[in-house]
Amino acid sequence: MTKIFAHRGSAGTHPENTMIAFYEAERVGADGIELDVQMTKDGALVVIHDETIDRTTDGTGWVKDFTYRELQRFNAVYKFAEKYRVCRIPLLEEVLAWVSSTSLLLNIELKNGLIAYEKLEEKVIGMIKHYRLGSRVVLSSFNHNSMARCHQIAPDIETALLYMEPLYQPWQYVRLLGASGLHPYHRTVSESFVREAHMHRVAVRPFTINKEEVMKQMFQYQVDAIFTDYPLKAKKIKKRPER
Ligand code: G3P
Ligand code: CA
Repeated sequence: MTKIFAHRGSAGTHPENTMIAFYEAERVGADGIELDVQMTKDGALVVIHDETIDRTTDGTGWVKDFTYRELQRFNAVYKFAEKYRVCRIPLLEEVLAWVSSTSLLLNIELKNGLIAYEKLEEKVIGMIKHYRLGSRVVLSSFNHNSMARCHQIAPDIETALLYMEPLYQPWQYVRLLGASGLHPYHRTVSESFVREAHMHRVAVRPFTINKEEVMKQMFQYQVDAIFTDYPLKAKKIKKRPER
């Protein structure tokens, strides 16, 4: 049965990658949440999609140039100011502490494609272990070197490869990196690809699926999970009997 992961929390209805977006995902019955991790100047792991705070907060500048304390000054309410007024950029630790009190699955995306944050893999894995969440977490990244590194450090934690365009010999590649899943841009996914992936025991979790017709198609293909900004909508569509 396809699982529903709330992408950046319930990002279609709430400020992305904030605690209220994650609470909403749980409230509507998502199976899991997806979030993005960057690192501050003082080495704190923070949950924010972009390398800069320009798009989603009222500030400007690079995450890597602020301390965590400095980042707290900015409002991450993004485009939902009328409804939610003030939201802060959460620490990964805050999210993990809360997730451990729920039964949610968690996809942590390491945002280290542009900036090689020092020891990001070690720090994220250390925190997952501290909260004993290893069996509920999938680590992912567009940086596949980083996923290989995570697998070396913690072979017991699942890793998955994010990508936009089809991979050459994906099953061999997945095995080479010790990964267990592929997180493709949804347009690259076909029914036969999903079937073949499952024959090779590789999970397929496409992103980011917000349109009803694409959701239906992915449910029909029996992908392992979808990432969506609208988990409530996805739940309703999944429940509806096929006509
Ligand atoms: O993990 C799926 C998706 O989140 C990857 O793309 O840019 O939304 O982080 P992006
Ligand atoms: Ca992401």
